[in-house]
Amino acid sequence: VSERSAVQPGAEVLVASNRGPVSYVLGEDGEPTARRGGGGLVSGLSAIGPETDAVWVCSALGDGDREAVRRTGGLLDTADTGGQRVRMLDIAADVHAAAYNGIANSVLWFVHHMLYQTPVEPVFDADFRGQWAAYEAYNAAFAGALADCASPGAAVLVQDYHLALVPGLLREVRPDVRIAHFSHTPWAPPEYFAMLPDDVQRQLVLGILGADRANFLTQRWARAFMACCERALGGDCTAHWPRHDVPSVIAMPPDRKAHRTRIGVHGLGADAEFLRERSRRADVEERMAVLREQIGGADRKTIVRVDRTELSKNIVRGLLAYRRLLADRPEWRERVVHLAFAYPSRQDLPVYRDYTAQVGRLADEINAEFGTADWQPVVLHVKDDFARSLAAYRLADVALVNPIRDGMNLVAKEVPVVSDAGCALVLSREAGAWEELGEDALGVNPYDVVATAEALHTALSMPAGERAERSARLAAAATALPPARWFLEQLRALAE
Ligand code: G6P
Repeated sequence: VSERSAVQPGAEVLVASNRGPVSYVLGEDGEPTARRGGGGLVSGLSAIGPETDAVWVCSALGDGDREAVRRTGGLLDTADTGGQRVRMLDIAADVHAAAYNGIANSVLWFVHHMLYQTPVEPVFDADFRGQWAAYEAYNAAFAGALADCASPGAAVLVQDYHLALVPGLLREVRPDVRIAHFSHTPWAPPEYFAMLPDDVQRQLVLGILGADRANFLTQRWARAFMACCERALGGDCTAHWPRHDVPSVIAMPPDRKAHRTRIGVHGLGADAEFLRERSRRADVEERMAVLREQIGGADRKTIVRVDRTELSKNIVRGLLAYRRLLADRPEWRERVVHLAFAYPSRQDLPVYRDYTAQVGRLADEINAEFGTADWQPVVLHVKDDFARSLAAYRLADVALVNPIRDGMNLVAKEVPVVSDAGCALVLSREAGAWEELGEDALGVNPYDVVATAEALHTALSMPAGERAERSARLAAAATALPPARWFLEQLRALAE
């Protein structure tokens, strides 16, 4: 262990993100055990694989991670990471908490997903300023570690809103490296972004503009970012989206040299090969049998949703729409079951705990209102189980993906790939995936529960032939840019 910790990886390619590909849980004996990390970002990046020889720099998130860092000096054992070189940073727990829960999850996530209840929030007060200082320190710690690990001219791919300041900070100390930033979320429209204090807006966009490339999941988010740059920086920047060339933003703040950032759009797709193989394994078949029991009658249809219990995923309105369907279209009673998988997330934040409770209450209410002796209208599962999610995908007649706003939404892309008989997709027009799947999905305004109920009815009523055809086209569109190619495409663009 002590020898390992002395090794400084001189890396040609570096990836940086808050959450890494593994995290450690402490057993009762104090031993840390590795678990695969979750979420869209990790799924996308997991495919970079050890072949690229990248070093993935991430943060310790809890006590298990901190213990693993203590034992390894931060360069994790590759037996735990599937061969990936991972450098985990032990940033002081209070700094991490303020940066992650305070700024990243409560401010930046809320701004980009437009989640604030604006008559009373946000309030940017002295507490906010304290958290912002922590966010700066946390970004500086990443920039420092990346500067130490990068070999001359290395490519550094920085991920997400947690690390928006890193490109600017890194460029100051390592002007030789090529830097890309990727936003896995939507980007706020300029009027909404303008809620943030002026200096914070400026720091955020200038941070990302420290990169050579700023990458987004869709054109819509890329354009919003460019509009925010113009609004926040005024005369200190120009943004261009030429018809036949790469869009770019040139920042020329008075205290810095002018710098051009090219803007890229890389729409992360589903990994068909992995999903098809994984969803055919025995553990998935076993869970299908259990779910079939819970569904009951063989001719009952299933509406499936799988999400983190995340405010932006709009699970409550999804359940309200399902309740409307059962109320307005009694012909579906006893003939449909809603498999709703809502995995608790960010439970450190009270608003997420309340939301999780609300989802549970509403599912109970629907079951009490409509359920019969042998029919449970909603089957809610809250324990994260990937094999069971795949089992539900295979059984899905309809997939409900209705986020208020979403960078992409990989579930919308995964279900058509995995479903056995082809599924109809009810999809929010505010999900990034809508740009790619809009032709064959049934689009909904996520706030309109009556329209969502109608779309569920249309989806359930779709003839099997049409459903299978649409589902096949959805699967083709969903897998156009699988994770490994998505990653290589960004590397190639950065090298140009
Ligand atoms: C989702 C989003 C990512 C984000 C991640 C963070 O996967 O798509 O943009 O980085 O959540 O989740 P966490 O659980 O780490 O807060």
